[in-house]
Amino acid sequence: MVNFINYSLTIFRYYKTFNYATSSVIAKLTENMNFGSIRSCDVLIIGGGSSGLRAAIEAHDAGADVLIISKNRKGDPHTVLARGGINAALGTMDPEDNWMIHAADTLREGEFIADYERVEVLCKNAPDAVNELVNWGARFHREKDGRLTQRFFGAHTYRRTVFYEDWTGQEIIRVLMDQVSQRRIEIVDDVYITSLLKSGDVSEKGEAPDEIKGAFGIDLKKEEIVRFECKSLVLAAGGYTRVYAVSSSRIFENHGEGVALAYEAGADLVDMEMVQFHPTGMVWPQEAVGTLATEAIRGEGGILLNSKGERYMKNYYPERMELGPRDIVARATFNEISAGRGTKHGGVWLDVTHLSKEKILDRLPTMYEQFKNIDGIDISKEKMEVAPTAHYSMGGVVVDIKCSTKIRGLFAVGEVISQIHGANRLGGNSLLDTVVFGKIAGGEAARLAKEVGEIKKTEPSLLEPNVNNEKEFDDGIFIVKEPLTFRNEIQELMKQNVGIIREETKLQNGLKSILELKKEFYSKDNILKEFKIDDENVVISWEVKSSLVVCEAIIRSALMRQESRGAHYRSDFPKLDDEKWKVNIYCRNEGTEMVLFSDIVKEIKGPLVDLLNAHVKAEHHREFE
Ligand code: FUM
Repeated sequence: MVNFINYSLTIFRYYKTFNYATSSVIAKLTENMNFGSIRSCDVLIIGGGSSGLRAAIEAHDAGADVLIISKNRKGDPHTVLARGGINAALGTMDPEDNWMIHAADTLREGEFIADYERVEVLCKNAPDAVNELVNWGARFHREKDGRLTQRFFGAHTYRRTVFYEDWTGQEIIRVLMDQVSQRRIEIVDDVYITSLLKSGDVSEKGEAPDEIKGAFGIDLKKEEIVRFECKSLVLAAGGYTRVYAVSSSRIFENHGEGVALAYEAGADLVDMEMVQFHPTGMVWPQEAVGTLATEAIRGEGGILLNSKGERYMKNYYPERMELGPRDIVARATFNEISAGRGTKHGGVWLDVTHLSKEKILDRLPTMYEQFKNIDGIDISKEKMEVAPTAHYSMGGVVVDIKCSTKIRGLFAVGEVISQIHGANRLGGNSLLDTVVFGKIAGGEAARLAKEVGEIKKTEPSLLEPNVNNEKEFDDGIFIVKEPLTFRNEIQELMKQNVGIIREETKLQNGLKSILELKKEFYSKDNILKEFKIDDENVVISWEVKSSLVVCEAIIRSALMRQESRGAHYRSDFPKLDDEKWKVNIYCRNEGTEMVLFSDIVKEIKGPLVDLLNAHVKAEHHREFE
């Protein structure tokens, strides 16, 4: 049964606009202001989602004193929106499955630019990760004989997605929060981190500082600036799909803050052009646009129809139809709508009316309620109206296999990092990646904290952010005039120029607009010299600041990659070109400039080679008229 209390909270949040606190008080920030609390710990975790929580548990169990900082309220991270399931080759339904086939599917879906060694770690550890969640009390769906049920998700060879109804992410957060609270690990919520405390600045040649030593932020409840000092830090602050207006993230999530924090501290970014559009988000009513209609709907037998009633996937991917790779189903859907075969609200139909109501209520109860409460339809009798929605960022911060960035003490995990999913992510692999790599990141961060011993003294000049310092405007905590206008403009230009189908002229226009907005954003007359911690505008200013970094990286990388691969489709270069572009594209912070370079993808070695050779590479790529 659906937990209706949690459910209604979730529904409420579909409509919630950003509003952390209503108090109108409020300290003025001046250059001489006193800072609020200073907190110290061994391992600081930024992000209260599944990757942050799993990292915290591991670091704690390795003996570290751990503190979790969360922007969202405790227990309500973006992970709760993850619907359809978590993958592991358990073979409960299809005994032929194994970790290597899971890895081959993951690499193929990512169009072979993921790091195969990380994919191996992901898939080999998946059964243990899922069993650990089960042992901790996760109530995943079971067959009558007690086996865990596994369902199909797009582009999987076998049924391997384990689920709790259709709100698996929330169930995983429930058990991880329980483990965190049993260990009495502290979570400080409603804290918005604005920068990382580091041993120095990024040099003009792009040399990163030696170490990360903590973070600055705004405590939105206490309305004060806070400083956290630590021996190692795990950044688990999410992705960047909210740079698009139509996104499956809530309005206050995934503006790219984690990616921007790491980049500004001197870490490199990679594969930033790879943004996954999920084929099916709600299109109606306006407040709910982008909200996910889970892939589990298609996994359970849902079909896609255009306004003429044609099952259009037969024209694009007859082999797997609606369960083809996400990029293909999303582009096909976009193409149908663009070609005038869309519905009244600019979508297509997603139909489960041929399934029994009993099955719908058993497997898709949240979707049943979501469409009933928001759209006013009974999906067992009427079709859902859906269209693509920005869903996942495959690009992000560069880390090694131990989740360490090139800056000592800075680890990263979850959607903020890259090179696990390549050019396109398999549905069900993101929840998996958060727990597998969360465990690794937490263990490594605790190990480093032990090695560091004491928290070393930091240069006094680095201990406080400049506040409204006119000379170093972008270095301190600040607020700009009408940040919401900037946000709307960014989202609009990303939609117009950097959407599902891309091409040179539009990308150039997008880059020009982003650079102009950046100039305007940082111009002196845009600074509010005295301001209150009026929550909405401070935080929105910082969301915009992050989005500007991320959008520049997305567009520059998209311009550089002159081919089509996975989620990145260039109508002017519609073919996949392994000879030139089987590379990862990196963005480096060289002080005032973002510099791009590419590097050839590591050659796959070991047991996966034979398996991949034995399978004809699925032709994932399609050109559209
Ligand atoms: O459609 C979904 O439930 C999404 C799952 C995922 O992105 O892994």
